[in-house]
Amino acid sequence: MCGIVGYVGKKDCVNVLLDGLSSLEYRGYDSAGILTMQKNNNNTYNLNICKTKGRVNDLKISAKQFGISGCIGIGHTRWATHGEPSDINSHPHMDSTSSIGVVHNGIIENYLELKDTLINKGYAFASQTDTEVIPNLIKDNYTGNTLDATITATALLKGSYAIAIVSKENPDEMIVTKKDSPLIIGKGDNEYFVASDIPALLKHTNKVYILEDGEFAKIKLNEITFFNSNKMKLDKKYKEINWSLEAAEKCGYPDFMLKEIFEQPTAVRKTINDNLKNNKFLSELKIDDKFVKSINKIYIVACGTAMHAGLSGKNLIERYLKIPVEVDIASEFRYRHPIINENTLMITLSQSGETADTLAALRLAKSENAKTLAITNSIGSTISREADHVFYTQAGPEIAVASTKAYNTQLATIYMLMISFAEILNIDVTKLKQEIETMANKIEIILNQSEYIETIAKTMFKEKDAFFLGRGYDYPVSLEGSLKLKEISYIHSEAYAAGELKHGPIALIETGTYVICTITDNELLNKSLSNIQEIITRGAKVILITNKKIDSKYYDYLIEIPDCPSEFSSMLSIIPMQLLAYYISKLKNLDVDKPRNLAKSVTVE
Ligand code: AGP
Repeated sequence: MCGIVGYVGKKDCVNVLLDGLSSLEYRGYDSAGILTMQKNNNNTYNLNICKTKGRVNDLKISAKQFGISGCIGIGHTRWATHGEPSDINSHPHMDSTSSIGVVHNGIIENYLELKDTLINKGYAFASQTDTEVIPNLIKDNYTGNTLDATITATALLKGSYAIAIVSKENPDEMIVTKKDSPLIIGKGDNEYFVASDIPALLKHTNKVYILEDGEFAKIKLNEITFFNSNKMKLDKKYKEINWSLEAAEKCGYPDFMLKEIFEQPTAVRKTINDNLKNNKFLSELKIDDKFVKSINKIYIVACGTAMHAGLSGKNLIERYLKIPVEVDIASEFRYRHPIINENTLMITLSQSGETADTLAALRLAKSENAKTLAITNSIGSTISREADHVFYTQAGPEIAVASTKAYNTQLATIYMLMISFAEILNIDVTKLKQEIETMANKIEIILNQSEYIETIAKTMFKEKDAFFLGRGYDYPVSLEGSLKLKEISYIHSEAYAAGELKHGPIALIETGTYVICTITDNELLNKSLSNIQEIITRGAKVILITNKKIDSKYYDYLIEIPDCPSEFSSMLSIIPMQLLAYYISKLKNLDVDKPRNLAKSVTVE
């Protein structure tokens, strides 16, 4: 997610901006930049920009070489959404007369039409970004002061934004405003600090103004004035923050993993967005009907959690599209001499877009003329650049090593892909298309049970072993739940197709053995209950995750999830499993965000 910083005061702003960007690095980014208002000897002003693809440290070197300075300035770390990571696409951006500088966090959904209008008016654009329309729109509406021009310009924007603006026309002030992206203003002694969130301010001040949607602030050396979109003055009071710096980076959550578990509704909403309206999903993929109709085999290739997401897509795609699907562990795929041709579609799932095994599988598929589609959370990643087609999940940066929100957005994307392909193939998926729009709200309902799930964790955190069982759509998600428990609590855990237990593994069930069972698949309800009966008679402790009405004799602990098509149930049943694993890890005082032996992106084979 992008990060914004700003400064208005007496100090030279460059180090303040660079330090602020450093404290926002945890949000994930691929480029960075700063802009300062430089006063010339003849009392004129220049906007000096220094920006680069890469890290904040690279920016620090460039800024030192450039000798940039000033007392008013803005800075930005970019997490690319429109336009790949590059120097020119980095923020800040200026209008084509270089008199207005802007940094922006969010997505301007109507930027293309605005850009066309501005180009027809003679404005020139240098980047591929949506952001660059903002300074030109402000310039185009400038009639004497930057605040008025900003109010008029932002009324034309659709989408989300947090914006900081400086202008040579009003060189002693900064204008900030926001809609659906956070923006905080810190109050110092005759100086003000602007940032996307509290961590970047805390070392300077704990007095903060939280800007609300549709509010504007005009910040000068020793005064700040707030306005609404009708230019009426607002009487805003600052809040005093008593968070530690580390707590602030996690927005008050104790760990990134818990923050990311609770971000899943937002992440799923952003990924689904309006991608299922008027075939936007396929146009995002740049995939045409002819290609879809030509597919006679689909491989879904990934590692770990991403592979489990792929498994959840297999049943669905084969059931509705009648196209054979094979889900392969990436590190195995290229050594088994898979059958690939020009009618093969290879889908790679990868949060990081850098996993070496998955990248190697992609390259093999391309070498044998398959069409390749990357589903990734990382814009400009190697896998995204080498695949023929790419869809970016909008989970935002996932910092915790154990994947949670990225997994759910991968599921959502696979479901959208199946729905979009089905419509091309004239297969009726109307009900599923309606249901997928409700999933984010249903995830929220389950998250409200977090305290109850923590009480269950307290009964099992000292266990040495655990099992996960599920049938049909409930089996792949059991694999993911088991991985979550393993990787952050170090409890030995195994997942089985429930019907498979009696073929050997049931020998491991003894009195008190914990078994997490999931039942959401209507067709397999009775068989699943029979499997539970088998383990209860051998003394197992059953945690049942279900949206069916089940007699209490089948469980010791019941976690109810909202009803939904069993095709999509993994998006819901995984939430209790993530929370259970998280709380058990915390109860064992383990490093839940950085488990032993693990890396967030495995870039070696
Ligand atoms: C997820 O909890 C694990 N950290 C790991 O299995 C991960 O899913 C796997 O390494 C694949 O990573 P990717 O999605 O970035 O390719």
